[in-house]
Amino acid sequence: MRYLIGIDIGTSATKTVLFDERCQAVTSSSQEYPLYQPQNGWAEQDPIDWYHAVEKTICDVVQESGVNPQDIKGIGLSGQMHGLVMLDEDNAVIRPSIIWCDQRTGKECEEITERVGRKRLIEITANPALTGFTASKILWVRNHEAENYRRCRHILLPKDYIRFRMTGEYATEVSDASGMQLLDIPNRCWSDEILEKLEIDKALLPKVYESPEVTGTISKEFSEKTGLSVDTVVVGGAGDNAAAAVGTGIVFDGRAFTTIGTSGVVFAHTSEPRIDPQGRVHTFCCAVPGCWHVMGVTQAAGLSLKWCKDQLADRYRMKAEKEGCDVYRLINQAIADVPRGSRRLIYLPYLMGERTPHLDPDARGVLFGLSAIHTQADILRAVMEGVSYSLTDCLDVLHEMGVEIDSMMACGGGAKSPIWRQMLADMYHTPVSTVMNTEGPALGVAILAGVGADIFSDVPTACEQFIQKKMTCSPDPAAGAYYDRGHHLYKRLYQQLKDCYRELAELN
Ligand code: XUL
Repeated sequence: MRYLIGIDIGTSATKTVLFDERCQAVTSSSQEYPLYQPQNGWAEQDPIDWYHAVEKTICDVVQESGVNPQDIKGIGLSGQMHGLVMLDEDNAVIRPSIIWCDQRTGKECEEITERVGRKRLIEITANPALTGFTASKILWVRNHEAENYRRCRHILLPKDYIRFRMTGEYATEVSDASGMQLLDIPNRCWSDEILEKLEIDKALLPKVYESPEVTGTISKEFSEKTGLSVDTVVVGGAGDNAAAAVGTGIVFDGRAFTTIGTSGVVFAHTSEPRIDPQGRVHTFCCAVPGCWHVMGVTQAAGLSLKWCKDQLADRYRMKAEKEGCDVYRLINQAIADVPRGSRRLIYLPYLMGERTPHLDPDARGVLFGLSAIHTQADILRAVMEGVSYSLTDCLDVLHEMGVEIDSMMACGGGAKSPIWRQMLADMYHTPVSTVMNTEGPALGVAILAGVGADIFSDVPTACEQFIQKKMTCSPDPAAGAYYDRGHHLYKRLYQQLKDCYRELAELN
């Protein structure tokens, strides 16, 4: 039997899964690390924490499985997109990574738009200048930390820094590179025009591959640390969403998924590069060579529920600690008794600003309609509903663009909740299904590794063979009609608050 490893370097943890060549998970290991928020709207992580988590979880799966390392044929890397990792001439990390949900780069986005022009920027990178994307983070370091910028010799994305530590190669692949705002999305290569206009030296950037292509093999040093073989290939892999798409079989036109991880995403596959002229959703290269995807992003999806559980609804966290059970199971039990609409409480999930559809780094969270009757359970349900309204905003933009969606899957931690899946089905007025294998991005990149290692012929064929639907939630028309009204009010709230958010951002 041959084996493959998929690694997902997420925002809250790294998860490493060893699969057999039939895509069955044999063993997995995960390791958490902190997120630092030195200022309101800032978000950083230490790349060394990611590296330690990867090294440990690989050692765990190699040892626990007892598999002969020679039989592990390929590794795929996936992870949080957009984060900026800068290395000096000795390959040391220069400063903490400014990650995807950081919102400090509003001014740099204006600078990018000025230098390139909004229309041209959307034509080439398929997106307007965005605070979350890497280009504005690079400019922020250049504008605020000139010495760090001067020392920088290599710019890498989070998973690509790990690839460098595993193989010694400076490489990336099209799906993750799409989120840097430096890639020519229709042509799948670095854009010389953008790099020149932004005065970023191309030599700082890694080589770009297609996702299933081999980018290198395990180095001697990493092999000694982990027990992996130096013959194991490491393929391009994919950004977490493109990887989740492969892991849920979203590799054909008409297929879409919603993921509720730290962020939330509504993602549709497209064989043509379709671009929203208003830039409300992202168009990226996908992990299937020659194809693209369109996706809307909710900045704080699972993050909203986690924040609420930790800061507002600590009763469930404390009970779970006392009883030694899963806190999210307790939360789901509690909200099952709360009526839809959470007793007229509406949550806006803009804890880290918002992308789709507002593109507003200054937006912040709101609990609207609070009354003395509300309980922690009501607030938790309102949070799940608010996140679902935001995901519905994403789906609405895809519909407006004429992207056809015949089937919707749900994945990510939040999709484990049957109540949350039902909420999505009701708000979307569409059946929402899950897949048998819940490893999402890790499975997706293991499939890419299988293609790179010549175990599978191509990505869509492997997905058709190994990914199976599990269950489907059908939409309830009465709930859908209620949520349509709720969504209408939810959308008005942002419009009413838009100017207040600006004023809030200026209050020091
Ligand atoms: C996508 C995005 C997030 C991150 C973190 O554009 O920013 O989905 O990849 O998961």
